[in-house]
Amino acid sequence: EKGGWSSFMAKEVAEQPEAVANTIRGRIQGDQVVIPELDGMDELFLGINRIIITACGTAAYSALVGKYAIEQWARIPVDVELAHEFRYRDPVIGDDTLVVSISQSGETMDTLMAVKYASERGARTLSICNTQGATIPRESDAVVYTHAGPEVAVASTKAFSAQITALLLLGLHMGRVRGTVQDASVDVAELGALPEKIAKVLESEQEHVTQLAGWMADTRSVLFLGRHVGFPIALEGALKLKEISYIHAEGFAAGELKHGPIALIEPGQPVFVLVPSPRHSALVHSKVVSNIQEIRARGARVIVVAEEGDAAVLPFADEVIRIPLAGAMFEPLLAVVPLQIFAMALATAKGLDVDQPRNLAKSVTVE
Ligand code: M6R
Repeated sequence: EKGGWSSFMAKEVAEQPEAVANTIRGRIQGDQVVIPELDGMDELFLGINRIIITACGTAAYSALVGKYAIEQWARIPVDVELAHEFRYRDPVIGDDTLVVSISQSGETMDTLMAVKYASERGARTLSICNTQGATIPRESDAVVYTHAGPEVAVASTKAFSAQITALLLLGLHMGRVRGTVQDASVDVAELGALPEKIAKVLESEQEHVTQLAGWMADTRSVLFLGRHVGFPIALEGALKLKEISYIHAEGFAAGELKHGPIALIEPGQPVFVLVPSPRHSALVHSKVVSNIQEIRARGARVIVVAEEGDAAVLPFADEVIRIPLAGAMFEPLLAVVPLQIFAMALATAKGLDVDQPRNLAKSVTVE
């Protein structure tokens, strides 16, 4: 039930600290990540040469974050494939390939078909799923459940955060098994601190972002830019907006700007820019700041999402949304929150039903 919330989406956005905490629970031992469900799979994790993560929609954006984390920690090449594209070509897969599927419902037909296809082709399959006993986990060799609780709103929010969390856990688990992560204590501490940091973003930015959305109710198009793990978050921010506020939105890798999208920038065009912490890489940070300058010079209305204390963005930003300091792989879980609130507030400002957007179903059970 909605309780006192205006919509299921509002309730589910607010439940993210809990969703993340519940997904982590029972999967930390000392300063290591140990996922008990994957007990007995060490040999597999040592033997594989390749991971393909397959999913659709928001789940596929969580997969993109997972790619960065798993490659960094477990040093296995990861490809992310939309399930419907993966299924209908002739992918190179075999018994050295692990196919990881991600699905909130566990019933998405496109994803289910991809999993079945991967099994037929000899791959091992692991599913990340939010629904106990659903079809996709039943068709997979192993399952890591996300514990976000039931998600009712069509727009996925807390399930997305739980999916990223599960992928971070998987990356650290495999990194431990493969010996590529020697000391996970810093990352384990980052995981533990996430729920509180997400709660902080919810508390400190809710009003600001809602107000911003109110001012922008007549906007016809919004762009989102990100780099590294900010790129999938830009895609997710754009999807949320399309889905529930019916506003044209696109997410880009910030580095692609000069390869085409910058031509879209005209005076007044709103652009969200996800700025990675300068503490992770001064170089990447400075590149994003130059991207901001480039679009600002062409009249864009720049809304930055940047960590507390990052002053480099101030001279070029029309609005600054702040997130707490976090490790590089953990930042997406904080940066996505204001984008969810923005989409929700804009849809509300337009008088739309945020839980039941037109033309969409919660679970897409047809191909
Ligand atoms: O249940 P699933 O996670 O398999 O669903 C996948 C997509 O259909 C889903 O994430 C969709 O994109 C959401 N409506 C996005 O908010």
